[in-house]
Amino acid sequence: MQVLVTGGTGYIGSHTVVELQQSGFEVVIVDDLSNSSADVVDSIASITGIRPQFEKFDLADGSRTHQFFSDYPDLGAVIHFAACKAVGESVTNPLKYYRNNLFSLINLVRGMTDHQVSNLVFSSSCTVYGNPDQLPVGENAPVKQALSPYGNTKQIAEEIIDDQCKVSSFRAILLRYFNPIGAHESALIGEQPLGVPNNLMPYITQTAMGIRDHLNVFGSDYHTPDGTAIRDYIHVVDLAKAHVTALERMLKGEMKEQREIFNLGTGTGYSVLDVIRSFERVTGMKIPYRIMDRRPGDVEQVWADPKKANEVLGWKAMRTLDEMTLSAWKWEQVVSRKNKA
Ligand code: NAD
Ligand code: WQD
Repeated sequence: MQVLVTGGTGYIGSHTVVELQQSGFEVVIVDDLSNSSADVVDSIASITGIRPQFEKFDLADGSRTHQFFSDYPDLGAVIHFAACKAVGESVTNPLKYYRNNLFSLINLVRGMTDHQVSNLVFSSSCTVYGNPDQLPVGENAPVKQALSPYGNTKQIAEEIIDDQCKVSSFRAILLRYFNPIGAHESALIGEQPLGVPNNLMPYITQTAMGIRDHLNVFGSDYHTPDGTAIRDYIHVVDLAKAHVTALERMLKGEMKEQREIFNLGTGTGYSVLDVIRSFERVTGMKIPYRIMDRRPGDVEQVWADPKKANEVLGWKAMRTLDEMTLSAWKWEQVVSRKNKA
């Protein structure tokens, strides 16, 4: 089975390509390299021994996307990761986000429909739940007014896919990720943020590496046991494996509805200080940090109820927080060595 992975040279996409290849799927990657590098294709080939096909273009370009589907008539399914994802940037440049994330999705769904490719796995986000009323968060929790244009693109994308499922034989699985961190055990692929990282894990590893002077901890007055905000961090390899499981469910015809939704998290929430302590425990290093004001738009605490994914998909996140932080550190060391060379 040939599978298109959009955004396949990106962080989660590259880990998923590895898992797909190791499960026997033939992968074609489409990525415009706006937030990743072509070297990732080599790294994937080094891990799996199989070089995925790679096409570099912007999915927001409708005619190029249409052409792609004509060039690859044997595609059986699509996993759609390609999107811009920086929440803060989406607030200052909303049109970039609406254009990129929604045009890409529309072009892709149109190409799939025109070429009778009817299986889609889509990268959604726990951001659709906003500040949840109840914890843990199940799939039936209400979708709240989006806190950013980025979050809104995920909500609108889910609606576009829903509507397409109503009028055709299109099948979709929407995966709502919580907070992916960590890197592949080979340390050949991982997260490579451009510029100053917004997210906690790469900020910690860059601080440990001496690239950043100290970590700012945003808020210590939340209603949580240690006062810092809580998230459900999930190892990116566990997350990647869930895509293979979802795809197999779809291809085996096991879906109960044309459109299914799964939360992908561990079910355990950790505070910012828990993550720092885990990093310090596994590396023996100290992370200098300063307590700052809360970051605008941050939710206080959110973690998943992953029961549906555990029971229906038969998937469970296996890796511990210590494994996540250690793998992130191994990857940071490789990246820093590469950047110095
Ligand atoms: P990433 O930026 O590492 O990967 C996205 C890839 O898509 C990049 O390689 C980029 O070059 C490519 N891309 C972007 N726009 C494109 C376009 N128009 N045409 C072709 N390629 C394009 O991001 P990631 O962390 O791997 O995220 C993957 C998906 O998961 C995204 O949809 C993101 O919104 C979603 N998601 C991520 C997180 C997270 O914390 N990382 C959490 C929830 C959901
Ligand atoms: C985690 C915690 C910060 C950096 C974001 C997106 C979300 C989803 C995942 C895509 C928070 C704190 C962070 C720092 C800190 N992405 N922090 N100092 O905000 O939960 O989620 O990524 O869909 O949509 O919003 O992740 O890693 O940025 O923050 O104290 O330098 O770490 O305040 O409590 P977040 P994060």
